[in-house]
Amino acid sequence: MKPTDTLVDEHRLIEQVLNCLERMAERASRRAELDARRADDAIAFLKTFVHGWHIPREEAYLSQAMVSLSESRPEDLAFHDHRRCCAHLGEMELAAAAGRAGESGAAERFAEHAHAYIAVLMKHIEDEEVRLFPRIEDRQTEPSPAERAILPEPSLAQPMDRGQFALYTKAANRLADHYNVPRARGLAMPVGPAGRAKSAVS
Ligand SMILES: [Fe+2]
Ligand SMILES: [Fe+2]
Repeated sequence: MKPTDTLVDEHRLIEQVLNCLERMAERASRRAELDARRADDAIAFLKTFVHGWHIPREEAYLSQAMVSLSESRPEDLAFHDHRRCCAHLGEMELAAAAGRAGESGAAERFAEHAHAYIAVLMKHIEDEEVRLFPRIEDRQTEPSPAERAILPEPSLAQPMDRGQFALYTKAANRLADHYNVPRARGLAMPVGPAGRAKSAVS
């Protein structure tokens, strides 16, 4: 198993939520009204799972792995996309709060930033999987111990525990079921005190 396999697994769950967000944003534009509860669920997932868990580990791994590549630094571009997504997420959060306060135009503003967020992250995920990750994984057969420390086997590492992980997948699946989006499959749960769990995404 390559270290980036964990990140690729996580991409599938992230895409699931992005597909839900797209439908949420379409409805928000059409009805000029935002589903506040589901917007909060999506924002919480993006803040915690994407920007609080996936991206920090990915950046730490890429920074470490790129040390052994002497050419240009493609991770800079990846990091730039992360910052752009973060800015759009902040605007979505502000728009959702404005919507709750009854401000006109809030739903449309949420939709605008949600679409921008989705466009950047979907393309970004594709770039990582098609170009960036293979280049890094091709450079050597065995990842260094420092890299393994960031993305250890098997699958997700602490500090995200099984309870937290189950919360994220449940939130993602609640959204998927509401918006008729297919659920991601095959994502492994983190190792917990009771040993390796089988699957968190059913
Ligand atoms: Fe990334
Ligand atoms: Fe990623």
